[in-house]
Amino acid sequence: MNSLIPIILFLSWFGNAQGATVTFNVITFGAKPDGKTDATQPFLEAWAAACTAATASRIYVPKGRYLLRSAEFRGPCKSKIRVQIDGTLVAPVDHRAIGNSDYWILFIQVNWLSVVGGNLDAKGAGLWACKASGQTCPTGARSITFNWVNNGEIKGLTSINSQLMHIVINSCKNVKVSNVKMIAPDLSPNTDGIHVQSSTGVTITNALIKTGDDCISIGPGTRNLWMDKIKCGPGHGVSIGSLGRSFDEDGVENVTLINSAFSGSDNGLRIKTWARPSKGFVRNINFRNIIMKNVENPIIIDQNYCPNNQGCPSQGSGIKISQITYQNIQGSSATKVAMTFDCSHTNPCSNIKLYDIKLTYLKSTKAQSYCKNIAGSSAGVIMPENCL
Ligand SMILES: *[C@@H]1O[C@H](CO)[C@@H](O)[C@H](O)[C@H]1NC(C)=O
Repeated sequence: MNSLIPIILFLSWFGNAQGATVTFNVITFGAKPDGKTDATQPFLEAWAAACTAATASRIYVPKGRYLLRSAEFRGPCKSKIRVQIDGTLVAPVDHRAIGNSDYWILFIQVNWLSVVGGNLDAKGAGLWACKASGQTCPTGARSITFNWVNNGEIKGLTSINSQLMHIVINSCKNVKVSNVKMIAPDLSPNTDGIHVQSSTGVTITNALIKTGDDCISIGPGTRNLWMDKIKCGPGHGVSIGSLGRSFDEDGVENVTLINSAFSGSDNGLRIKTWARPSKGFVRNINFRNIIMKNVENPIIIDQNYCPNNQGCPSQGSGIKISQITYQNIQGSSATKVAMTFDCSHTNPCSNIKLYDIKLTYLKSTKAQSYCKNIAGSSAGVIMPENCL
């Protein structure tokens, strides 16, 4: 009999170590799921409890609507945190409430963080209207941001009507974003779907993005980014850049986008840089198995980026673009020039590879391509005609 005791003790210890997750329900901290009572303080208190818990913890947000002002969830925390959201987080209707704080929901300096589920409604319309009226407006807030998060995850989240970008991954390592939806009107300003910057090892899988700016924008210092099953449009496409705003800028390297579709978007696969000197670069980028439907610029490298054609620099772009592969890109262009490579005269694009490109122009006439300051190679069918 006695010999069993150590075994039983071991089993109970083992069971505990595996399943020991402590749950903090925001309701018990005073949050009301009525969409009217300010839940910011209860959310922050639930976070403080979870962040200081000695074992893995879960913050639970039950069904219902929770009114949330700008909230900063700061680490480092003692152990893993999972934020499980079954409800909807709504911002105040008055856009000034979160509009002056850059961030609506900010997770900062946290390791091993999962945000699972949830609907975010930032009520961006007030800010867009303000901007359209020409009045002086607050800058606006990004909806959900990970700053300095290592080993993080955003899964099953839906974000609508962000004031600015929906999701921002900045200065992070190993963050997985999956099964997400981002929706805002076609003409809403600066509502990028997902922005990645200064981060390594980010993966984005299965994202549906219909928004007013880039579906995914990729900023300086992005390395080892993987994107697959992205549906984009309306929106401005998947954009690397704009880059070269400053001279001392980090490069972008090893980015893959596969098995994705663009529909009615302003761009498909875009690389854009300002026309001024910079130490930056874009290299080892792979676009594979992409379908375009009525896309204005299905494939574009623009090293003379100049939004609204106003007061932009007009030097040679210092951003060195090389090793860019486009493979199996098919579908329709909404404009005649389906492939544009407008590269820098001081730093021509090099090692650009085209394999099996089949893009047609909707209006029965043939699509065209445009090449400037570019070197590379091609194989398979290339349509529109290869200008490399
Ligand atoms: C490139 O990025 C992928 C993830 O997309 C990663 O698995 C791979 O190791 C990276 N390659 C290098 C050379 O870092």
